[in-house]
Amino acid sequence: MTAQIIDGLALSKKLRASFKEEVATLTAQGKRPGLAVVLVGEDPASQVYVRNKIKACEDTGIHSVLQKLEAETTQVQLLAHIDALNKDPNIHGILVQLPLPKHIDADTVIEAIAPEKDVDGFHISSAGALMTGLPHGFWPCTPHGCLKMLDDIGYELRGKHAVVVGRSNIVGKPMAMMLLGRSATVTICHSATPDLAAMTRQADVIVAAVGKVNLITADMVKPGAVVLDVGMNRNAEGKLCGDVDFDGVKEVASWITPVPGGVGPMTITMLLANTIESAKRA
Ligand code: GUN
Repeated sequence: MTAQIIDGLALSKKLRASFKEEVATLTAQGKRPGLAVVLVGEDPASQVYVRNKIKACEDTGIHSVLQKLEAETTQVQLLAHIDALNKDPNIHGILVQLPLPKHIDADTVIEAIAPEKDVDGFHISSAGALMTGLPHGFWPCTPHGCLKMLDDIGYELRGKHAVVVGRSNIVGKPMAMMLLGRSATVTICHSATPDLAAMTRQADVIVAAVGKVNLITADMVKPGAVVLDVGMNRNAEGKLCGDVDFDGVKEVASWITPVPGGVGPMTITMLLANTIESAKRA
């Protein structure tokens, strides 16, 4: 079997085209969605991510503000910036790019964001809403993008066994909650799981979100499984690749996401979706 490719770039383009129309309608009603992106310091990867987020806003018609703060910014100063954004009626979403410099406590900063503007979905209020199935709050963008991709291929999760590899607050844990919310049986694997392959071989759906090249190989995948690759790594040759051995696994799986062009573009797409949703709720 050769797997069908889940094209995150194509799905993103389709969704962003519909967002553009929605933003135009909201703007005409005087409710133009607005996103503030806060970057502290000069981490090169973060600069690229932030630029891509601002560009996506511009392409969709979303009002965007980039606040670049120097690496020496104190936590008190950063919290004052967030407080001002919390009170700004033109801003519906606030994203503080992670990682933050070591002298700043990321948890304190995330909790300072007004929950109704938490478009990253990292606030405990959003996490609690996802866990309890309540409709307020926002879902973290990367796992939400994964769920959208499964919906787009018409995959029915009810009764299926989903194995999530990785337990981060940003991807693994919220992904597991979303899959559980769709009545999948969910297993979360992590660095202390003794026999990862024994777990993944039982999976109808695998979500790999660890950050390790070739973590998931063909022998670890049940024939016909759906494989979503959240990894974003460089291999020994410096080529961008995920956590899944794509060439091997695509011969076993029924559907698979590539890297690049799979989950990656969907993350920003869901950030746009959350920002629009926040403006509609305001
Ligand atoms: N750093 C890496 N990914 C993300 C993300 O999704 N949101 C934020 N705020 N920072 C990140």
